[in-house]
Amino acid sequence: MTAVSVHDVWKSYDGRPVLERLNIEVEEGAFCAIVGASGCGKSTFLRLLLAQELPSRGEIRIADADPATEPQADRGIVFQRYSVFPHLTVRDNLIFAAEIAASRTLGRTWGRTRRNLRDEAEATLERVGLGHAAKLCPSALSGGMQQRLAIAQALTKKPKVLLLDEPFGALDPGTRATMHEFLLELWRETAMTIFMVTHDIKEAFKLATRILAFDKVRDDPTDPGAYGATITYDLPLDDKTEKDAFNGPN
Ligand SMILES: Nc1ncnc2c1ncn2[C@@H]1O[C@H](COP(=O)(O)OP(=O)(O)OP(=O)(O)O)[C@@H](O)[C@H]1O
Ligand SMILES: [Mg+2]
Repeated sequence: MTAVSVHDVWKSYDGRPVLERLNIEVEEGAFCAIVGASGCGKSTFLRLLLAQELPSRGEIRIADADPATEPQADRGIVFQRYSVFPHLTVRDNLIFAAEIAASRTLGRTWGRTRRNLRDEAEATLERVGLGHAAKLCPSALSGGMQQRLAIAQALTKKPKVLLLDEPFGALDPGTRATMHEFLLELWRETAMTIFMVTHDIKEAFKLATRILAFDKVRDDPTDPGAYGATITYDLPLDDKTEKDAFNGPN
């Protein structure tokens, strides 16, 4: 089933195009890595998928629903550096995120709803390996743990589509490898469709089932902002041997 459909999407700021003519269909459960030069519009594309911003032209549909006009509970996002409420514990950061999500549909949360949110928060923290850190403040967490918390927060809405903007860019190689395993496990378990921006092509080959490369096909040397980037390569990696050949043995 098609999870995400992007049809002739353009995005301009002040009349200057950043993205142009984007067209893709993404299957449910796909893991798309997005690569491309700095400033080519990768984060902008994620904001469009989130419906935090709207295309200047064209449309994006998630699971065949009408194009969204504001951020939806069916999509969650994680950034490179997570900003938390420093005065709240890990658990309360998560409950707060869940309350915000729930209050959109339920109004103020109290009583049983609150207890349910609390139980769910506990379960999610266990799921991401932060059960033991529930009472800590974020400043006491390592970079990897903070990103687990960020992912946990995105998961509270049980999104169908998870958007990751260079989520592991600030982590050391060892922690990054551990987070790769964690993310793959989560992805297999939940069947989410994932879009992950990365500058690390090896990471893209290791994790993704499909690589989308963004670049400009048109360029005006006298006016560098005249044209936007588009998807210049769309590389399926379903062929395991191709992935293994790139990743090398083990
Ligand atoms: N709200 C905005 N208003 C005006 N211009 C913007 C806005 N958001 C992004 N841009 C411009 O759009 C272009 C693409 O930005 P974007 O952050 O999407 O690039 P990116 O590919 O994510 O870059 P990086 O790899 O450095 O994160 C940049 O030129 C940026 O200045
Ligand atoms: Mg970016």
